Amino acid sequence: MRTLRTQVAVVGAGPAGLYLSHELRAHGVDSVVVERCSREHLERRVRAGLLEEGTVRLLRGSGLADRLDRQGLVHDGFQLRFDDTVQRISTTSLIGEPTYIYGQQEVVKDLLAARPPDDGSLHFDARDVQIAGITGDHPSVAFTADGEQVVVEADFIAGCDGHHGVSRASIPTASLVVHSRRYPFDWIGLLVGAAPFASELVYSVHARGFALASMRTPEVSRLYLQTDARDEQSDWPHERIWDELWQRLYVEEGRRTRGAVLEQVRVPLRATVAEPMQFGRLFLVGDAAHIFPPTAAKGLNVALEDASVLAHALIGWFRRGEAGPLEGYSAARLPAVWRAQDFSAWLTWLFHPAADATAFDHRRRTASLTRLAEAGSSAVAFADEYVGRSRRRPPARSYVHELDGMEA
Ligand code: FAD
Ligand code: DHB
Repeated sequence: MRTLRTQVAVVGAGPAGLYLSHELRAHGVDSVVVERCSREHLERRVRAGLLEEGTVRLLRGSGLADRLDRQGLVHDGFQLRFDDTVQRISTTSLIGEPTYIYGQQEVVKDLLAARPPDDGSLHFDARDVQIAGITGDHPSVAFTADGEQVVVEADFIAGCDGHHGVSRASIPTASLVVHSRRYPFDWIGLLVGAAPFASELVYSVHARGFALASMRTPEVSRLYLQTDARDEQSDWPHERIWDELWQRLYVEEGRRTRGAVLEQVRVPLRATVAEPMQFGRLFLVGDAAHIFPPTAAKGLNVALEDASVLAHALIGWFRRGEAGPLEGYSAARLPAVWRAQDFSAWLTWLFHPAADATAFDHRRRTASLTRLAEAGSSAVAFADEYVGRSRRRPPARSYVHELDGMEA
């Protein structure tokens, strides 16, 4: 058995774990990262694509955005299609912030490339990962690699191991509440070797269902299609997927071309929030603590925000002996998590017609979408949530407070 000693043991080398470890090292705090998969798998895994301005600023501030600034696509806005109309919502005009298209696996590659090579602080292909001692002062992470048992002893553990990891499951059920919601929809996601459908993202709401035409690069498209959560895979042969995409994106008959499908995934639309996001010396970060339906593209953005807040709380502890920010990590993060959860839920219901939707529902949805596309305060509020600026502002004084004050 081999024993390693570090200040922070990080479980999971997704974007959250790698970014946390990067920030800690930049401020002189030592960490060891333990990852279940191989490096090749992480660098190939296609997931998120839309980055908010706040995320790009975090990456720039950490010296991680050189390639993103060269190769990422900057989008001033997006298209909203419904009822044969095309509206354009420009977040840059509305609130001065664009969004960015840059694949999650590219963020992961940049984070991996920024690490010192082979310094022994990153362990891939870890088997049987287990967390122990989180209620005491000496927590540890044990795993097996190449047949050898390894124990990482640390002062703190950051659980960055996604929705199916061991971290959340290591917290006694009596000390954790997991709030969940399964939406009655799934998405089929296609990665297609063809030029993007349009120069910006197209969110399309059709009576037949929702479709989203996104992209990864000028040569690769990412297409999503709403399906019913009860559907079987066999209900969706390629022919039907393409036909629905064309109809829902309002593509004219003569312009219906396919591209080579490089990958196909099924994405269940669901949400969870684990409260609190910490227990003893274990902190939950990113998807380990919360997942969002993909509609509003919040998961990666909120995960990196968590990682940044936790990194600075840990740096405060190790460098200046501050306990407050660490003790307050969960309380600091949950309002932002719920805000993103609320926007994601609202957009999910707005964009996805239910299987039993009536003509009344459809007309009411049209009224909502029309209002959304009208310039004015509701468009500004929408843009604020879509680009995540609302989560970067201190909470506004609430009216409830003011009423209390008046009554007193
Ligand atoms: P993960 O990326 O899940 O990383 C967790 C890591 O932990 C993984 O590498 C995993 O292998 C490892 N791990 C798991 N179990 C263990 C274990 N027991 N021991 C050790 N390691 C373990 N978000 C956005 O912000 N914008 C988008 O446009 C967007 N689009 C999306 C589209 C799709 C189709 C999907 C599925 C998601 C999308 N998301 C989007 C969400 C985003 O991909 C996730 O929120 C993001 O991956 C969270 O990062 P993470 O580091 O917290 O978790
Ligand atoms: C992507 C996913 C989303 O959910 C979204 O709203 C925008 C883009 C994407 O994967 O490209």
